[in-house]
Amino acid sequence: MCGIVGVLGHNQAAPLLVEALKRLEYRGYDSAGVATVQDGHLDRRRAMGKLVNLSDLLVENPLAGKAGIGHTRWATHGVPSVSNAHPHQAGPVAVVHNGIIENFRALRAELIADGANFESETDTETIAQLCARELRAGATPVEAARRTIARLEGAFALCFLFDGHDDLLIAARKGSPLAIGHGDGEMFVGSDALALHPMTDRITYLEEGDWAVVTRAGVQVFDARDTEVLRPETHARIDGTQIGKGGHRHFMAKEIAEQPSVISDVLGHYTKTGTRIDMPAELPDFAQIDRLILVACGTAFYACQTAKYWFEQLTGLPVDIDIASEFRYRSPPIGPRTAALFVSQSGETADTLAALRYCAGKADHILSICNVPQSSIARESTVALPTLAGVEIGVASTKAFTCQLTVLALLALHAARQRGHCDDATLAEHLTALRGLPGLLNLALGQEAEIETVSRELAEARDILFLGRGAMYPIALEGALKLKEISYIHAEGYASGELKHGPIALVDPAVPVIVFAPTDPLFDKTVSNMQEVMARQGKVLLVSDATGLDTAGPGSWATIQMPHVSPFLAPILYAIPAQLLAYHTAVAKGTDVDQPRNLAKSVTVE
Ligand code: F6R
Repeated sequence: MCGIVGVLGHNQAAPLLVEALKRLEYRGYDSAGVATVQDGHLDRRRAMGKLVNLSDLLVENPLAGKAGIGHTRWATHGVPSVSNAHPHQAGPVAVVHNGIIENFRALRAELIADGANFESETDTETIAQLCARELRAGATPVEAARRTIARLEGAFALCFLFDGHDDLLIAARKGSPLAIGHGDGEMFVGSDALALHPMTDRITYLEEGDWAVVTRAGVQVFDARDTEVLRPETHARIDGTQIGKGGHRHFMAKEIAEQPSVISDVLGHYTKTGTRIDMPAELPDFAQIDRLILVACGTAFYACQTAKYWFEQLTGLPVDIDIASEFRYRSPPIGPRTAALFVSQSGETADTLAALRYCAGKADHILSICNVPQSSIARESTVALPTLAGVEIGVASTKAFTCQLTVLALLALHAARQRGHCDDATLAEHLTALRGLPGLLNLALGQEAEIETVSRELAEARDILFLGRGAMYPIALEGALKLKEISYIHAEGYASGELKHGPIALVDPAVPVIVFAPTDPLFDKTVSNMQEVMARQGKVLLVSDATGLDTAGPGSWATIQMPHVSPFLAPILYAIPAQLLAYHTAVAKGTDVDQPRNLAKSVTVE
């Protein structure tokens, strides 16, 4: 969380910093700030709230200088305020930071005892104060930054800028990603390659524990033991058109609409040969695996929860799933013949990464499904399967979720083949169904007008329940999560059969209950649970296919018709109405759909 950027350019730095921060705003939008060195003098501008406030401030009060650093904040220590906004400055040094300094209290106490005056409540200011103390003691900027970095515990990506030095940035990475961009006699630093895209696509990624001395002449990288190391320069493949809204009102709307096309890309990538599933040869032989562990956070966790049904039913393999933040501290035993699979859109989620590191050396295979191929999770896995959703900018994950599901479905079929649980005819049937999925997704998207209409009523509700059974249960959870995060309406997802064990007490005519019920082998059971809700004056919105609506639609408050789909693929298809209901409810409420309050897209703190 938080986005950081640094520029040593030929032109004025502030506009470039703001442009790069626009691409990092998905990481947080509590405040933003920039600092530059002009005529040897360090100066900064900071503003509360979104980046636009900083841009306005820079119009009123411009900041000159061709060397600078910038930051967009997701608050961890200290409320969103100008004094807590980055860059933090102590005397001749300014710093921007992404992450958390875990030992900052001890460091702050030590510095205060030494006479330091703090102007903010942040952990980051400790870094600037430590570095300033080293400079006062006579250290050079490089030495002062090195000694400072060595004292920091926790997770961080940092960039330092020094008074009197307009050709120097010091960057450091421990636990949070950092990219160095190479220009033509210019150099850049950014939280990711996307931020640097307008300036350069030539990127060197720092490795864990690295720190770097950046000047316009190039970069020198040192590892955690201060030994100079060579890190390769790579070419980041970023399609600039993915960064716009493409005529849609919100990124989320664009990303929902893109799903048929990106899922076609996923299918094309993993089924090139037509009659087989093409998975990397480095994947384990699933016939030699006795246990699969799936770990992720949030929406990516619901993809894992859905996949548990698929893997268990198709492969007979025991599957454990867990939320990364719980898994990592539970010390779960990991026996032999275990594969651990981590799912993450960003590939940088701190808890998922920590869970992966816990399993490394314990599980026989560390696999991942990530949307960002250069991410830490992808790079630290033995096999990383790309999600291929393209850049996802809306904070609420949509297309990444359905692409994760599609990759997981293909992987489950691949494992089923290897374990002798899926013959040629069954595979062919599933592949045919998968190839029909983009068309079905288009039909589901065609229901948007009806969904928008019911959403206007949903927007009046205080609480909403989502129900589903079997593999539709995680979709109910995902529907509730999506609605909560962008409309701020309280919502809960339940397994339909669980309702009568407590939550049915919530049902009254003011609480809409959204039921995902494709006509699958569990349809009748789900409908019975729905009847229990209706018998208590519950206001049911039934999402089903034509057959399901004929059978169970009468008496419900509203219905949404989905095309008929094989039960195997129903979770992917029903993700569409879940997303559209949340989207249109949020639009009706007038919330900030792409950047909902309190959230950030890349969760790089615990
Ligand atoms: C919800 C959402 C989050 C993420 C979660 C994990 O819409 O986007 O719940 O799914 O923060 O993020 P990644 O997938 O980047 O690990």
